[in-house]
Amino acid sequence: MARDPLMELADRHLIRYVPGFAPFLVERARGSWVWDRDGNRVLDFTSGQICSTIGHNHPRIVEAIRSACDRVLHLNSWMLSEEVVRLAARLAELLPAPLSKAIILNTGSEANEIAMRIAKLATGRFRVAGLDQSFHGLTAGAASVTWSVGRSGYGPQLPGTVMIPAPYAYRCPVKQLDGGVPGCDPCDRSCLERGFEALLADGDAPLAATIAEPVLSAGGVIDPPPGYLARLAELTRASGGLLIVDEAQTGFGRLGTMFGFEQDGIVPDIVTVSKTLGGGLPIAATIISPELEEAIVARGFVHVTSHVSDPLPAAVGLAVIDVVVGERLPERAAAMGARLRAGLDELATRHPLIGDVRGRGLLVGVELVTDGVTREPADDLGALATDACLSRGLSMNIVRHVGANSVWRIAPPLTVSEDEIDLALSIMDDSLSAVVASAAV
Ligand SMILES: Cc1ncc(COP(=O)(O)O)c(C=O)c1O
Repeated sequence: MARDPLMELADRHLIRYVPGFAPFLVERARGSWVWDRDGNRVLDFTSGQICSTIGHNHPRIVEAIRSACDRVLHLNSWMLSEEVVRLAARLAELLPAPLSKAIILNTGSEANEIAMRIAKLATGRFRVAGLDQSFHGLTAGAASVTWSVGRSGYGPQLPGTVMIPAPYAYRCPVKQLDGGVPGCDPCDRSCLERGFEALLADGDAPLAATIAEPVLSAGGVIDPPPGYLARLAELTRASGGLLIVDEAQTGFGRLGTMFGFEQDGIVPDIVTVSKTLGGGLPIAATIISPELEEAIVARGFVHVTSHVSDPLPAAVGLAVIDVVVGERLPERAAAMGARLRAGLDELATRHPLIGDVRGRGLLVGVELVTDGVTREPADDLGALATDACLSRGLSMNIVRHVGANSVWRIAPPLTVSEDEIDLALSIMDDSLSAVVASAAV
């Protein structure tokens, strides 16, 4: 797509917080689409920043914002509004018992900061373990347990944060799955067992918490094997720590169930929700049990920020939940995800660049490799194929970082139509053929 001339102003006045900005400026967005200032439309298969799960500018969100403008936008942190109280109650209805006490915040990073502060205060410990390739945010505490991006060059992370290997089946960290023995269980979660043994060997620093995403999205859509979260919960609790599940991307339906952790049959000690609760507006929440709340309040818990419990985003969160529940979007994510997955599996039979297709519901990863046997990441061709998709009207993320992978992260709104999925698949098909053909010239 042609570069918008106004991007020169961006070059002059914006800090480059990503390696490159899109060449166009977005004029408007609706449903699964964004339009540039020349009227060209792009199918947004990342739902913005994986937030707009009910589609861009959903009328219910717009109505909630309008009504908040007529009522109240912002309050002192000790004053509550009806929206905030109702949102906390609604979250309690959706989550399993005993998760029924929430604090209403703004971002995913903040929700994870608070989750870890709660775990530390409640246990009197400070050690937190997270997974390699994970992403939990880039504020100091959250960044300390983020092992996908942003670790180098900023000095020491928080003391006490430790990493366990990610259950990355396509590039198994303990080589259990590479050249595996025929007939053996393909995955016995050795990476988790060994990782936990190693971290517990440091007996002087017992664990306050572990934190995990149900599917490691920014890390390249790494989909843990069934039972992984359940075992992580067991190991964490056996060591006296609390399990935090970060549902920033997976909460409210994306994986085909309301929350990702449900698929492992567990109830975490602390749940954080963010991106998908706001449908594009900044709202987040950390949810715990009444018992845990009693314990931290008794120890002097405090969290006051400018926008804690703000009414406007809470009104939007309520509207998003209404749409997710009313339109049965978790079921829709499962059905549309199956269609997307079938299409990608078919593409994989014709395009050797596709090394692996994985994920759940409408969070799908396509790992691109130059050689299906050595699994050499297709970094250059992957970037070219992503650009080729954009030039044909399909926006997708390519995840490329220290883990040495090159993965398309595909996460359309849960309201995506069958036609939009088919269109995206045909654009991917054309783009992969085009880059391979031009590389061969
Ligand atoms: C799983 C997960 N947790 C936390 C965050 C951080 O959220 P925020 O950017 O709202 O601070 C992200 C952001 O991408 C995320 O994907």
